[in-house]
Amino acid sequence: MSYPFQIKSLEQYHIDYKKSLEDPEGFWSGVADSFEWRKKQPFSKKGLDWNFTEPSVKWFEGAKLNITENCLDRHLDSIGDRPAIIWEPNDPNEKVRTLTYKVLHKKVCEFAQVLRNNGVKKGDRVCIYMGMIPELVVAVLGCARIGAIHSVIFGGFSAQSIADRLYDAEAEYIITCDGAFRGAKDIPLKSIIDDALIGNRTVKRVIVHTRTRTPVSMIKGRDVWWRDEVEDVVESMHEEVLKVPAEEMDAEDPLFILYTSGSTGKPKGVVHTTAGYMLWTTYTFVNVFQYNPGDVFFCTADIGWITGHSYIVYGPLLAGATCLMFEGIPTWPDAGRFWDIVDKHKVNTLYTAPTAIRSLMSYGMDPLKDKDLSSLKVLGTVGEPINEEAWHWYDEHIGKKKCPIVDTWWQTETGGILISNLAGVTPAKPSWATLPLPGVKPVLVDEKGEEVTELTDTHYSGNLCLTMPWPGILRTTWGDHERCRQTYFSTYENKYFTGDGAFKDEEGNFRITGRVDDVLNVSGHRLGTAEVENAINMMAGVVESAVVGYPHELKGQGIYAYVVLDGRNRHEEDDQLTKQDLLATVSRIIGPIAKPDKIQFVSALPKTRSGKIMRRILRKVAEGELENLGDTSTLLDPAVVDEIKEGKI
Ligand code: WTA
Repeated sequence: MSYPFQIKSLEQYHIDYKKSLEDPEGFWSGVADSFEWRKKQPFSKKGLDWNFTEPSVKWFEGAKLNITENCLDRHLDSIGDRPAIIWEPNDPNEKVRTLTYKVLHKKVCEFAQVLRNNGVKKGDRVCIYMGMIPELVVAVLGCARIGAIHSVIFGGFSAQSIADRLYDAEAEYIITCDGAFRGAKDIPLKSIIDDALIGNRTVKRVIVHTRTRTPVSMIKGRDVWWRDEVEDVVESMHEEVLKVPAEEMDAEDPLFILYTSGSTGKPKGVVHTTAGYMLWTTYTFVNVFQYNPGDVFFCTADIGWITGHSYIVYGPLLAGATCLMFEGIPTWPDAGRFWDIVDKHKVNTLYTAPTAIRSLMSYGMDPLKDKDLSSLKVLGTVGEPINEEAWHWYDEHIGKKKCPIVDTWWQTETGGILISNLAGVTPAKPSWATLPLPGVKPVLVDEKGEEVTELTDTHYSGNLCLTMPWPGILRTTWGDHERCRQTYFSTYENKYFTGDGAFKDEEGNFRITGRVDDVLNVSGHRLGTAEVENAINMMAGVVESAVVGYPHELKGQGIYAYVVLDGRNRHEEDDQLTKQDLLATVSRIIGPIAKPDKIQFVSALPKTRSGKIMRRILRKVAEGELENLGDTSTLLDPAVVDEIKEGKI
């Protein structure tokens, strides 16, 4: 496996960057030559067709392929016996599983046939709710093999959240597990699915894999065991199953839906298509991490998030890499677990989130005692801004000052990394994501959408937009294209608006400062303030609420909720109990990841005379800045602010 598109020097980066902007079609057609196509034409004629007004973005439309043939089949002759996935179980004493490309290919072919036998067809939506086990990868690729659209839901979401997503995607099939091991916990996934299915009339089939052997209810005619279904295929087809052709897909056919939070209440289904996503994940994987064949790559994300989709499943497998997949959590059985895994499997690249780094830092140096870590060559971070202290700790104590750190900025909507240094090739700058990748044209704009040209101190500061499409950009939001237009393409004309604020220095490096919209980033997990408010407002006795983010030492951002209760439910002495009820309610509606860190009961929210909640003030109070609240003269009732200030917890 070699990568003709791998950038090997700073000079080459500049050349490729320029080429990619001047002739995007030519540039990406060149990269596309490294892949297997059923039919390459006509993309060499019309590689890219786009406008950001509808919006409509089409890369290589008319060309045909199946992404799993690129992930698996094309590697069989050359690296078929190389590990594709090394799986480290939650319990360090349980056996490691290694799946070579040949083994993974066989499992995917068999499971694709299971899906066919159960009636799944091209274009059908399949919801996947599983723990971090190799079968999750098999399920994802099994769907892609037959052209079904997968929608993976993170295990930390509640039954209600799953039900909303099933309804929105009109999913007819579910793949799940009896349960999932995470640290000392056993999460009853199937039981949560059963709750999500109460009243659902669309789902026809639930395929259940056994992992924890937690007792589950199995409903005749709807629920089937994964193992039985695979056995049927193996017994009836034997090796023939390997010859069943994968579905031929158009370059622009949808590959998956992934739900993510925005500034409005309901999460939206971000849609990625086949060829563009394939190119983008491979290209960014190889270049950002400077992956070399044979290296062991460890991405600590969950496949329920975009990072897991792009840098555990698709990017690494497309590049023929060896990917380490970890079922558990960084602090179990102790806070040295990541470092044990690095040593046990001789990990070369570690890709994790600042929140994990900060949390491990807080345990001090003890967990690092007797850890070797000398196999590490490259470190990466993703998901939120990394503070300098965490960056230096990562550099000194994990990378021993010899591993480049890549600070990778991107989003669910971008499919893969957009702004990052390239390990050892372009320079790093602590807490800066640095330079855009080829194909990416970022610009900072002011409130009016004008490009920022005035320096503030040593840098430009503005809202981060992208002015041309790269292959991995989202194509739509499922079932509601207008929402996609509104959310990303209507704030500034002819630009994709990221929702992030950023600085840019005079060398063209970017530093992402965080969201400027009502999206929270809690431990690297995206949540909408409106989404959390809706959940709080569902509790009996709540009149209204306002949710803001505040700086949190470990999580990056914490959730601060101001809640107005009606008199009947307000028993001062029971405040603690009421708060617990509130947490239980939010857990039930969205999931444990959305539980507020702080709750303050107030008699009213600060509102303008036109009834708008003044979040600016709430944010300041949450940040502990009680003195400097700015202009409060437009408030309907300024006394409310005094009460909020006094009652601050
Ligand atoms: C934030 C995760 C600073 C950002 C891949 C973005 C970052 C949101 C970085 C997307 C980074 C991600 N530095 N901020 N390196 N990476 N973000 O969709 O606010 O879960 O808009 O995708 O995370 O979160 P999402």
